Amino acid sequence: MTRKLRAAVLGATGTVGQRFIQLLEHHPWFELGAIAASGRSVDKPYHRACSWKVPEPMPEYARDRVLSPCSPGLEADFVFSGLPSSLAGEVESDFARAGYPVVSNSGNHRMDEDVPLLVPEINPGHLDLVPLQQKCRRSSGFIVTNPNCTTIALVLALAPLHRAFGLKSVSVVTMQALSGAGYPGVASLDVADNVLPYIEGEEEKVETEPLKILGNCKDGKVDWAEFRISAQCHRVNVQDGHLEAVSTSFRQRPSRRELVEALASFRSLPQELNLPSAPRRPVVCLEEPDRPQPRLDRYLEKGMATVVGRIRPCPILDYKFDLLGHNTIRGAAGAAILNAELLRARGMLDGKR
Ligand SMILES: NC(=O)c1ccc[n+]([C@@H]2O[C@H](COP(=O)([O-])OP(=O)(O)OC[C@H]3O[C@@H](n4cnc5c(N)ncnc54)[C@H](OP(=O)(O)O)[C@@H]3O)[C@@H](O)[C@H]2O)c1
Repeated sequence: MTRKLRAAVLGATGTVGQRFIQLLEHHPWFELGAIAASGRSVDKPYHRACSWKVPEPMPEYARDRVLSPCSPGLEADFVFSGLPSSLAGEVESDFARAGYPVVSNSGNHRMDEDVPLLVPEINPGHLDLVPLQQKCRRSSGFIVTNPNCTTIALVLALAPLHRAFGLKSVSVVTMQALSGAGYPGVASLDVADNVLPYIEGEEEKVETEPLKILGNCKDGKVDWAEFRISAQCHRVNVQDGHLEAVSTSFRQRPSRRELVEALASFRSLPQELNLPSAPRRPVVCLEEPDRPQPRLDRYLEKGMATVVGRIRPCPILDYKFDLLGHNTIRGAAGAAILNAELLRARGMLDGKR
């Protein structure tokens, strides 16, 4: 590696944007370029525009940086996007057309046929879509996305199981943290003493995104994996960390020992390449009967792992277990940073602008 690449952050004042600011502070390959947000924040120093909610203090280096509008022309080698879906689709396309590699958190382009929905441990080969995307869109930049925060925690556990035993069906009931709804997010009067059994659009994402991620990329097209997922999503009164209760059936039913071994031994390209944000263990298995728990386990592997526990036989499907993922780290900013690290390791960011 030579010089650090400058990453602009779109939506830098938001829940995901704040994690980018935090995680980029000491990053060995990337440094913060321009920061951008809405008209409400433009021209203000970061500490004035942002209602900082990350548990650690706002990094000094960002406090006096001044916010720009979210339009091309920003000082950056590439762009991280943490924009709301109401505008991310168009803004990200504008940046890609202007020549920027765009590493997005937003849902808008995830299902575009020529856009990788990337999890570096699972489908690095989907980056083969990028040249095709550039050709079809006549664009020197490109867009790469990471999955929804609930999907990514789930699919990190499903991937080694699908590869080893072939998934037939998956049922997942989620208990999702408040920070997943952004800031200010859910009204306090709706969540105090309560659980909300509806998150708009979430179940559709969790039922489809893993099938694209686990699909085979061949001749510029992803053939989706063929198994069924049923998701029921709930918002609960937890700050960070999505808990998911999962049941699975398999084409070849493993023993419990084989299932645990497949999860706990899962290692892949980011670990081989030693990418700076790669968790040493993408899936951490706990044996205590009352774990994982959001408050106790969300920072395992610096928030970049899926934490699995309570693995046991299921009387309806084959096995059931609980899993936990940190929704703003592995579920958002950390995932995008790992994606960008893979892009850099593949030479797809250097000299692009
Ligand atoms: N929260 C999570 O756990 C999570 C996980 C995965 C993916 N995501 C996705 O990431 C994206 C951001 O989510 P979030 O939770 O960070 O949302 P958020 O807390 O509401 O932050 C939104 C950000 O977008 C900016 N913004 C709003 N309207 C804008 C406009 N018209 N022009 C330019 N910038 C504008 C805001 O700037 P101002 O401060 O100036 O208003 C703020 O920086 C969404 O697409 C979400 O679905 C979120």
